[in-house]
Amino acid sequence: MGAYMVERTIVIIKPDGVKRGLIGEIISRFERKGFKIKALKMTKLSLEQAEKLYDIHKGKHFYDELVNYITSGPVVAMILEGSDAVNVVRLMIGATDGRKAAPGTIRGDYSLSISENVIHAADSPERAEYEISVLFRPEELL
Ligand code: CMP
Repeated sequence: MGAYMVERTIVIIKPDGVKRGLIGEIISRFERKGFKIKALKMTKLSLEQAEKLYDIHKGKHFYDELVNYITSGPVVAMILEGSDAVNVVRLMIGATDGRKAAPGTIRGDYSLSISENVIHAADSPERAEYEISVLFRPEELL
């Protein structure tokens, strides 16, 4: 394993996180950890964006529910930059199912569900770049 790299990743606070008033809490956690916020916006995903975001889940039994859910209300999307950002952010958000996510993680502290699990994050640097291109226009990036 080589040295840690400064990376960027994308995080999306899902409709349940926005509705429940967790935007500030979640952004605070990433800021206090030391990440730089490189872009930030509230938006509602189009069907096309949702299908692109979740292309790897197409055909799974929960795919329709997933796409319906992520387009059901506003989300907050942000690009975070820092050392080993993809892995560190995934550690901070916890396991997919909020019931199984460790206490102290975002899902572990705020979710009891696998579908309404508060937050999404890219799972590799390549996915991060792809998902950024789905959610942000080039002129929105710093
Ligand atoms: P996310 O990190 O956004 O990536 C894909 C999402 O699919 C995941 O979080 C969950 O919210 C959702 N998901 C995964 N497995 C299931 C499942 N078995 N039932 C419903 N939703 C699921």
